[in-house]
Amino acid sequence: MDYQTAFTASLEVVANACEDVVPPVYEALFKRYPDFEELFVLDIDHGARGHMLNEALSMAEGLLDRDLVAHNFVAAERMNHVGYGIEDDVFEGFYTVMAETFQNIAGPAWTSDMGDAWREISLRASQAKL
Ligand code: HEM
Repeated sequence: MDYQTAFTASLEVVANACEDVVPPVYEALFKRYPDFEELFVLDIDHGARGHMLNEALSMAEGLLDRDLVAHNFVAAERMNHVGYGIEDDVFEGFYTVMAETFQNIAGPAWTSDMGDAWREISLRASQAKL
């Protein structure tokens, strides 16, 4: 199964198992990086959390397509995030956290192809630099 097909399938199994992935993804993010929770203190309605997750997910597809727009978007966000104190080596950790959270949500429906696709997304996000 190619990366794109496995990625789409991973989103389908997650959507079937969980109505709103925002809470579990950020719970996992803050568990891994406790210092980052306070950065979202002004995000009272969780709108920025949801927007960030949506953008990161849309870009994941583009990263797999080797789409230049996605590459540049992620690279630009990497630079924007330096302003939040998120260093280069941590930024793509959001994709790793998403992958682990989605695997937990999917349970036995998660396949090794899905894991491979998500590892490739994280790798390409780590390489997205201007
Ligand atoms: C460990 C990794 C990351 C952390 C801790 C992080 C943290 C943050 C923080 C603190 C904000 C500002 C929230 C606010 O305005 O209240 C933000 C905004 C944003 N982030 Fe991230 N980020 C990470 C990775 C990513 C990645 C990988 C992407 C996408 C490629 C991304 C895309 C965005 C976008 C689009 C916004 C603007 C959201 C909005 O204001 O509506 N972030 N991020």
